[in-house]
Amino acid sequence: MIQTQTDWEEAYRRRETPWEKGRAHPALLDFLAENGSLSGEIFIPGCGSGQDVPALSTAQNHVVAIDFAPRAIARAKSRPRVGNEEYLLADLVNLPPKFDHQFDWVFEHTCFCAIHPSRRSEYVSTVVRLLKPAGKMFAIFFINPDNEEGGPPYRVSRQELEEYFGPHFVVEREWVPQRTHPGREERELMRILARV
Ligand SMILES: C[S@@+](CC[C@H](N)C(=O)[O-])C[C@H]1O[C@@H](n2cnc3c(N)ncnc32)[C@H](O)[C@@H]1O
Repeated sequence: MIQTQTDWEEAYRRRETPWEKGRAHPALLDFLAENGSLSGEIFIPGCGSGQDVPALSTAQNHVVAIDFAPRAIARAKSRPRVGNEEYLLADLVNLPPKFDHQFDWVFEHTCFCAIHPSRRSEYVSTVVRLLKPAGKMFAIFFINPDNEEGGPPYRVSRQELEEYFGPHFVVEREWVPQRTHPGREERELMRILARV
C-alpha cells in the first residue's frame, strides 16, 4: 500500500504512476476556458510532476505547488516555466507557518484521495490554515465510487465530503465533469468551495 513519502517516491522511481496522463485535466482546461484564470495566490497540494500546473500558472498569479516525493518535484521543476509557478518539496501536513492564510485558492486534484482516510482531517485543517479568510477551493475530487477496499486512491463519499469540508466551507458550485481522462468517467466530482 502506498502511503509514506518513500512509497510515493518509489512509485515515481519505477514510473508506476497511472495518475500521470501527460497533460492537464480536461475539466480544468474547460473551466479555465469558460471562466478565465484563477487569480491571486494559488496553492496546489500533492502536485506530482506538475501536470496541471502550467494550465493554472499565468504571469499575473502566483502558484505554489508542493509534493513530498523528490522525483515528482524534480520532474515538475524540469517543465518549461510558463508564469510565476514555484515547486516545493514539502509535506502537506508539515508546512511552515509562513504559508498560513496566504492563499486565495487551493487547487485539489487526486491529492485528497491519496491521503489515508485516518489523516483526512489533517488535510482539511491544513487547507483551512493556508487559505485567506475569503479563500476558495477548486476541487476535482476523485471519488472512485466503485472502490470497495483500500487505496490509494481511497474512495471518497459525498457524506465524507460533507463531514470533512462542511464545517469550514460552503459549496458554491458542484458539477460532474463533461470531459475527463479516459477511465475516470462518473468517478469525479468537481466543487468550488468557499470558506465560511
Ligand atoms: C495520485 S498522485 C496525484 C498527483 C497530481 N495531483 C496529479 O494529478 O498528477 C498523489 C500525489 O500526492 C503526493 N502526496 C501524498 N501525500 C502527500 C503529503 N502528505 N504531502 C505532499 N504530497 C503528498 C504524492 O507524492 C503524489 O505525488
